[in-house]
Amino acid sequence: MGEATLFNGVLYLKKDQGKIDEVHATRNLDDLPGSIGIGHTRWATHGAPLQVNAHPHTDCTGQLAVAHNGIIENFSELRQELEAKGHVFKSRTDTEVIPHLIEEVLKNNPSFGLADAVLEAVKRLEGSYAIVVIATREPDMIVCTRHESPLVVGVNDSAIYCASDIPAFLPVTDKAVMIEDGELVTLSLQGYEIKKIADSKVVTREPKVIDWTPEMAVKQGYPHYMIKEIHEQPATLRNTLRLQEHYLDLMSTFLDRAREVFLVACGTSYHACLASSYMFSKLAFLPTYPVIASEFVEQYGKSVNIESTILTVSQSGETADILAAVNAARQRAATVLGLTNAIGSTLTRVSRVYVGQQSGPEIGVAATKTFTSQLSVLAGLALRLAKQRGKVSQDEMDYLADRLKKLPDTVDTIIRTQEEKMKQIARKYKDAKAFFFLGRGISTATAYEGRLKLMEIAYVPAMSFPAGESKHGPISLVEPGFPVVFICPKDETHKTLVGNVMEMKARGASIIAIIEEGDEEIKRLADDYVELPKEIPEVLSPIPYIVPLQLLAYYMAVEKGYNPDTPRNLAKSVTVK
Ligand code: F6R
Repeated sequence: MGEATLFNGVLYLKKDQGKIDEVHATRNLDDLPGSIGIGHTRWATHGAPLQVNAHPHTDCTGQLAVAHNGIIENFSELRQELEAKGHVFKSRTDTEVIPHLIEEVLKNNPSFGLADAVLEAVKRLEGSYAIVVIATREPDMIVCTRHESPLVVGVNDSAIYCASDIPAFLPVTDKAVMIEDGELVTLSLQGYEIKKIADSKVVTREPKVIDWTPEMAVKQGYPHYMIKEIHEQPATLRNTLRLQEHYLDLMSTFLDRAREVFLVACGTSYHACLASSYMFSKLAFLPTYPVIASEFVEQYGKSVNIESTILTVSQSGETADILAAVNAARQRAATVLGLTNAIGSTLTRVSRVYVGQQSGPEIGVAATKTFTSQLSVLAGLALRLAKQRGKVSQDEMDYLADRLKKLPDTVDTIIRTQEEKMKQIARKYKDAKAFFFLGRGISTATAYEGRLKLMEIAYVPAMSFPAGESKHGPISLVEPGFPVVFICPKDETHKTLVGNVMEMKARGASIIAIIEEGDEEIKRLADDYVELPKEIPEVLSPIPYIVPLQLLAYYMAVEKGYNPDTPRNLAKSVTVK
């Protein structure tokens, strides 16, 4: 984290690796002079969490500082262009292009004020950002702007603030002004002024009083982190899809060359691996072995070798079972690839290549937004591999890439239209003693994950297996009223799945079906159903189809009087720091 302030025409900057308290303990942030400043705690996306990569970042002169939340997609091109013009970069971050871009605009337009320069500079940025800028040339001003990353201004009688979210300034003011995409704000002694970037027109917007309790504030108005994070998914998916293509290309090259590929993870991350094994097989014709990390050493520890590639998926990058599997694989010279949410974690240090999933911190006990982000990275990887191997036509590639890009909107629609329905279903089945979650094909992974969420958060025993297994034993548990959740996208498995639904129906089960809009056949059989938008390709279906199940687990926990954020999850505590 870091802070920059302005005082007597000088820009002061302190930043270091670590959390606020740690940095404050060693660097004493309180002695930064002045009454105007910016600060940032970084969730690493580009560049390891080191001092040099901490925000704020400065231009070549050290007279201008920027803090940024979001991802600049075209930073490599911009960096090359700016370096060719003589700009010297210090960090590995995407953010650092911003101060240099503003510096460049000011060099070419000496009459520009800071706000004009920021306005011009952000026109070059692609991606998501909320940025704040200060500079010695206008020492009484902060300029901030946003695109697809939140930004909010806070006002009281003696000061003015801007932040990514309201809790940051709620202890000092409850009056907030929401800033919208494409707006630029200047904060000064005179107050705040909002302008539209497109035409520089001034926007009048009065502050609103925020009546959140401190408890609600940290969750941004949501009652629990879990539901906040479920709702964040459209935004986190958008960020994940901004991943640097280069790393995915590199990873798919390793996968292509391997003699055997293992997909290794625990819990929710394992379910993402399981789903991706269908993606790799169906799109790239690559067989892979999904393995639960705690079993890897026993099952394959002796047989992996220099020709094996281990793709490990871990949100935290610190799960002990994953690290043990990676260690065993490395000892036998296998190639380790990592997909994680925590850049700088052990997994990123031991992987030959790693990709950051860019879903931001997950505070809720249950993995929700990190699951959908992992899936979207893995789908992108499978698509790349399919292209590299010439296994899909360009038309199909384009179609799937387009559908993947639209998924954040699809997820948004599902949350908006189906949340109430899931709440009702949770209420109806809250006293059920046990559940089945069933799917076929790739939806088996969705079913496993839906079942894990319900058990983990609402403490309801649940079983999950590929629906085709029902008749080989488990169906004997089913008696009238036993709830069975079916994941039923309209894919190649649909016809056989209808047979499985009938089978359960015949035993008197209560069928809860997650279906595609207008699936009359299943509607006729189901006791309850939720309809998801059409045109979701089979290989991408776990991303939208898990959302109603996350909501089911959440509302079931609430209905049963449990706190979905209470950490009764043992798996998450099994990490090494
Ligand atoms: C479930 C959950 C756990 C984790 C598992 C792996 O909601 O959170 O099952 O998915 O402990 O954790 P990571 O992905 O950090 O290795």
